[in-house]
Amino acid sequence: MTTEVEWWEYDDAGEWADAVAGDIGFIIESAIDARGAAVIALAGGKTPLPVYEKLAQAKIDWKRVTIVPADDRLVPLGDPLSNVTAIGKIFIPRGARVIPLISSTVSDYKAAGRAADAILQDHHWPLDLCLLGMGEDGHAASIFPGPDYDEALNGPKERRALGVMPDPLPAEAPVARVTLSRAAIVSARSLIIAITGAKKREVLEAAIEQGASSNYPVGRILADVELPVDIHWAE
Ligand code: 6PG
Repeated sequence: MTTEVEWWEYDDAGEWADAVAGDIGFIIESAIDARGAAVIALAGGKTPLPVYEKLAQAKIDWKRVTIVPADDRLVPLGDPLSNVTAIGKIFIPRGARVIPLISSTVSDYKAAGRAADAILQDHHWPLDLCLLGMGEDGHAASIFPGPDYDEALNGPKERRALGVMPDPLPAEAPVARVTLSRAAIVSARSLIIAITGAKKREVLEAAIEQGASSNYPVGRILADVELPVDIHWAE
């Protein structure tokens, strides 16, 4: 089985952000129409923040929307590296429920991963949407090479989140993480990847081409996924 991938390209980052925000808004509204609520995972990192700023302006009944980060760094709430803090600043004022995967009282990353999994077990599943970004090293969510790589990619299907210690630690945020598992990501009803820049495009194209044996985590995550994947890219 090959992954069904559709690339969407934009002339500039503004158009890109509008389009991604529009698609996410549509997915949220469809879930609210169907079920009265939406549960989505949003990518961490800096690239998607303009998307979130636009999305937050949409006329959505935000009280019906639950947002979890697709991954987070093992840092206290409020830390500049905290994904949930960045997402929460944008969506909590709109009335959405933004759920941290990390509690500041847990410092052991494996225990943090188990706690994150327990939090997600209490939510409607599968996710209505998983939005992923990607690092130039080809990681997505916080699925990285290291001692937890196999568990993140091939662990039990029921496992929604786990703790990981990337090896080597990524320079932009050299800390342990919690992440959605591959099983949680690929079970989502919609999967969108939003990236910018020539390098990330090159990496993602190579990763998809390589598939399950890719050197890049994202290639392994996407290999043989059954749902179509929309990739939105701008320079
Ligand atoms: C994380 C992310 C991660 C992110 C990439 C890209 O917490 O690290 O969720 O998967 O999407 O690291 O980050 P930038 O958008 O900042 O380049």
